[in-house]
Amino acid sequence: MRLVLLGPPGSGKGTQAARLKDYLQVPHISTGDLLRAEVAAGSPLGLQAKEVMARGELVSDDILLGMLEDRFSRDDTKAGFILDGYPRNLVQAAALSELLARLGQKFDFAVQLEVPTELLVERIAGRAQAEGRADDNPESVRKRLQVYTDQTAPVIDFYRQQGELTVVDGVGSLDEVFTRITEALAPAKEVG
Ligand code: AP5
Repeated sequence: MRLVLLGPPGSGKGTQAARLKDYLQVPHISTGDLLRAEVAAGSPLGLQAKEVMARGELVSDDILLGMLEDRFSRDDTKAGFILDGYPRNLVQAAALSELLARLGQKFDFAVQLEVPTELLVERIAGRAQAEGRADDNPESVRKRLQVYTDQTAPVIDFYRQQGELTVVDGVGSLDEVFTRITEALAPAKEVG
C-alpha cells in the first residue's frame, strides 16, 4: 500500500501514520521527522533547515526532494510507504509524481485528515506543553497554518481533481480516526 497523508499541522498525520505503519507493514516516511533528525545531528542540511522550521516556513523544495530520493533509494519502500508531510505545495506534488513514475510506482490513496482550526491549535498547544517542539509556539503555529492554507491546500484540490483524494474526519479519539482511515483503505488493502 502506498499512502500519502495530508492535513494541517496538528491534524494527526504523524500519530496515525505510526499506527498505520504496523497495520500496513510499510515504512512511515515523515519529512518533518527526517528534517528534525538532521537538525538534531547538526548536519549542514540541518543547520540550513533549523531556522526555517522554527519560523514555521517551508524548507526548500530542492532539499526536500534530495531527502526523499535518498529515502526512496532504500529497499524497504518497495513494499509500499506512508508519506507524511510531503507534498506541501504543487511543485512538490509534481516532483513526487515524477519520482514515483521513475520508480515505476503510483500511490494508492492521498488521505486528507480534516480537523477544524480551533482543535488544531488546542492539540498543538497540548504538545507544546508536553514536548516543547521548537515550532509549536503560537507565532510559528499561526505561520504553519497560513502556509498550509496558501501552499498545501492547492495540493488537496489537485488530488481531488485527479480523483485520488480520500477525505477522513480527523475529529475523535485516536482509535476512531484510525478506524475511519482503515475503512477508507479497505478495498485497496484487499486487492493489494
Ligand atoms: P511536520 O513535522 O510535517 O509538521 P506539521 O505538518 O506542522 O504537522 P504536526 O507534526 O504539527 O502535526 P501532525 O498532523 O503530524 O499531527 P500529530 O500526529 O503530530 O513539519 C514541520 C516543519 O518541517 C514544517 O513546518 C516545515 O518547516 C518542515 N517541513 C516538513 N516537511 C516539509 C516539506 N515537505 N516541505 C518543506 N518543509 C517541510 O498530532 C499533533 C498533536 O495532537 C499530538 O500531540 C497528538 O498526540 C495530538 N493528537 C493527534 N490526533 C489526536 C486525536 N485524534 N485526538 C486528540 N489528540 C490528537
